[in-house]
Amino acid sequence: MPAFRATAPGKIILFGEHAVVYGQPALAVPVPAVRAQAVISAAPNLPAGELRLTAPAVGLEDVVWSQLAPEHPLRRAVDLTLAALQRSRPLAARMRVTSSIPVAAGLGSGAAVTVAVVRALSGFLGAPLPSEQVNAIAYEVEKIHHGTPSGIDNTVVTYAMPVYFVRGRPVQTFRVARPFTLVIADTGVPAPTAQAVADVRRAAEAHPQTYEDLFARIGALVEQARQAIEEGAPERLGALMDANHRLLQQMGVSCPALDRLVAAAKAAGAAGAKLSGGGRGGNMIALVPPQASPRRAADIAAALQSAGATRTIVTTLR
Ligand code: PMV
Repeated sequence: MPAFRATAPGKIILFGEHAVVYGQPALAVPVPAVRAQAVISAAPNLPAGELRLTAPAVGLEDVVWSQLAPEHPLRRAVDLTLAALQRSRPLAARMRVTSSIPVAAGLGSGAAVTVAVVRALSGFLGAPLPSEQVNAIAYEVEKIHHGTPSGIDNTVVTYAMPVYFVRGRPVQTFRVARPFTLVIADTGVPAPTAQAVADVRRAAEAHPQTYEDLFARIGALVEQARQAIEEGAPERLGALMDANHRLLQQMGVSCPALDRLVAAAKAAGAAGAKLSGGGRGGNMIALVPPQASPRRAADIAAALQSAGATRTIVTTLR
């Protein structure tokens, strides 16, 4: 049986994080420059049905899958894939999981790892699962990471396409009529999304009117941003990003490191900038002015690094 390899891209939320948990729309896009990969190959010398996992990033070295705790994300991904295929155990095999996606940084690393594992395992077993099922499994596993995920991460990563996402509604993709370039910068501050989501929930329960209003205003920005992208007017996105960042600050999910990078990007000529994802650390995004020379992206990235970014990624959406 040949080895089977699957990869899945990272993702970034352009607009609408947090409000999306409360039914507002959000826009997210894949980031193909960073990826998770799972490679599985038969291991005839192992006992029947024994799948061994190696995932250096989480300290797993040749560990039998069934010895992991049931709520371990990799164990859960394997269990749910087997259940979907109505198999009680995998074949004797070894799977190696690697990823260049920074962890706990809002780049969808958890979802990408799950999608790669599910596709590699189901493909290896001769029954590649359709995207809808891959997405459903990735959503289940996201619950371990996030608590109450909206489902946006797993959706973008599974379909590897720009997504307009409303919780509980069928996935809509959207067209990027004119390419535009973003610089993604990592604060280096680890930021577990579950904590930020839980804090927003508490604050929203304490001040329902204020938060309803914040969520609705973010939802309106998302609609305008989608229109700008589809109409080939990415220059309109800068002001929308700035406005979205201010609303996220009011919601209490920014932090000094994010605000510093947002200010540095703007000072270096970005057309707009905002935190992306759960906030409190993790990543921010800056829009390179659509008319600017390609060097401008490098200048903005350099300014972000001088302001403390631990990593920058330049990505063009098309
Ligand atoms: O931190 P990320 O990129 O995984 O995204 C979190 C996005 C939230 O809207 C804050 C939560 C969610 O589940 O959508």
